[in-house]
Amino acid sequence: SGSLKGRSCLTLKDFSSDEIKSLLWASSDLKHRIKLEKQYLPILQGKSMAMIFEKRSTRTRMSTETGFALLGGHSCFLTSQDIHLGVNESCRDTARVLSRQCDIVLARVYSHSTLEELDREASVPIINGLSDLYHPIQILADFLTLQEHYGSLQGLTVSWIGDGNNVLHSFMMAAAKLGVHLRIATPKGYEPEMSLIQEAQRLSREHGTQFLLTDDPMEAAHGSNVLVTDTWISMGQEEEKKKRMKDFEGYQITMKTASVAKPDWTFLHCLPRKMEEVDDEVFYSSLSLVFPESENRKWTIMGLIVALLTDYSPQIPMPKI
Ligand code: CP
Ligand code: NVA
Repeated sequence: SGSLKGRSCLTLKDFSSDEIKSLLWASSDLKHRIKLEKQYLPILQGKSMAMIFEKRSTRTRMSTETGFALLGGHSCFLTSQDIHLGVNESCRDTARVLSRQCDIVLARVYSHSTLEELDREASVPIINGLSDLYHPIQILADFLTLQEHYGSLQGLTVSWIGDGNNVLHSFMMAAAKLGVHLRIATPKGYEPEMSLIQEAQRLSREHGTQFLLTDDPMEAAHGSNVLVTDTWISMGQEEEKKKRMKDFEGYQITMKTASVAKPDWTFLHCLPRKMEEVDDEVFYSSLSLVFPESENRKWTIMGLIVALLTDYSPQIPMPKI
């Protein structure tokens, strides 16, 4: 597959099967060389990054800032209080200025259209650090975690039980491309975006995977390898809490949900986690992968940035994906 150098990453919808695999390979390679072999790899020396955050973050900020520094780069963390973006200066002007001053921009925004505008006006790669529509960099970490745990992804079944949100949308844009079946349960009224359902169905036909959409959590969990969920109340939805708590009744992932999954089941959650969507027994069980998953946020953002900014080729053989 060709180089990803110069590309942006707003959604995995724009990335082919081979491209996603090459990102996982690069991430795995950096993890191997740096964590295991303790190599020093200043491949981003002299590079700088603007990190724009309209919302809070623990993992995205830490993994990106420390990962970029580990490779020799310098990043600037800019919240809405720090940067003029959208308040005192247009998105267009900000994008053009940042393109003159840094090599790459990561932005966490409310509206996905802000990313699209930044991308239209910038001449450097833009990375989506979470928008209302997608969370692509989370899903790279999730698939690396599953690849490491199961030895390969092809033929795995992932069950999403919860809100039809940004994180789910990114699973839907990547799963079939990796040979992964998706079984989704969302309450009525909380389904994923219709256009993305259609795209996921098209992808599953193209790649020969299953794509199931139901409102029954047990049906979604049935025969699955991976149970996954996310908060029922995403950032910006705080006002809807009362209604959502009621509408999501019966959706908490527990050992009862896991009892219909495969014996080798595991659990994923992008975090931050609340009690309501998964109980402690599952969340802290020995089968839960949530903390390795959080670590892999770092190796995957590093793999992505290296792929978008350099001609780096992995040194380890491509893992079985
Ligand atoms: N999963 C995730 O993106 O976490 P943060 O909100 O802490 O960045
Ligand atoms: N769906 C959550 C993900 C947080 C990482 C949100 O948008 O707030």
